[in-house]
Amino acid sequence: MQNPILIGFMGSGKTTVGRALSKALNQPFKDLDQVIEATLKQSIPSYFEANGEAAFRQVEKELLAQHLSTENVLATGGGTACQIANQELLLKSQRPVVWLKASDATTIHNLSGEDWQKRPILADKSAQDVTNLKASREHFYRKTADVIIQVDQKTPEAIAEEIIQRI
Ligand code: S3P
Repeated sequence: MQNPILIGFMGSGKTTVGRALSKALNQPFKDLDQVIEATLKQSIPSYFEANGEAAFRQVEKELLAQHLSTENVLATGGGTACQIANQELLLKSQRPVVWLKASDATTIHNLSGEDWQKRPILADKSAQDVTNLKASREHFYRKTADVIIQVDQKTPEAIAEEIIQRI
């Protein structure tokens, strides 16, 4: 079995579930945002501030392409599956693509507090803006996913088990 790739909006739990899943599968874990930060040697917010979103998306695409063939459970960023070129890469990858789908309430809850500030896409955005952005991205996730998991009110371990049952 190929290790799964997790996609979904910010705050859906991709990193936390990815860790639980890698533990359950006894496979290594990679988080694309962390790969990006390690490669750029700076945080995503500071890279966004200095270079803008288009430059970030280019780096994201290159690093996604490099890490698709690896044997890790891979968690992507919230916007990764929303670029057409990335969608094509994901669809061609032969790896199970799992969309972690969270309700608006779960998303806002998970993003509230410090996490909100860590994401440049959310800077100065209201909860309504975030809900609108999430709605505008759902068709990308739907089109890319092999499996959709509703994550609300479930533990990362329970979600990981559900993924294993369904891939
Ligand atoms: C982004 C989501 C972030 C990160 C970047 C852009 C987005 O990843 O890649 O800040 O456009 O949704 P997380 O979903 O891991 O927060």
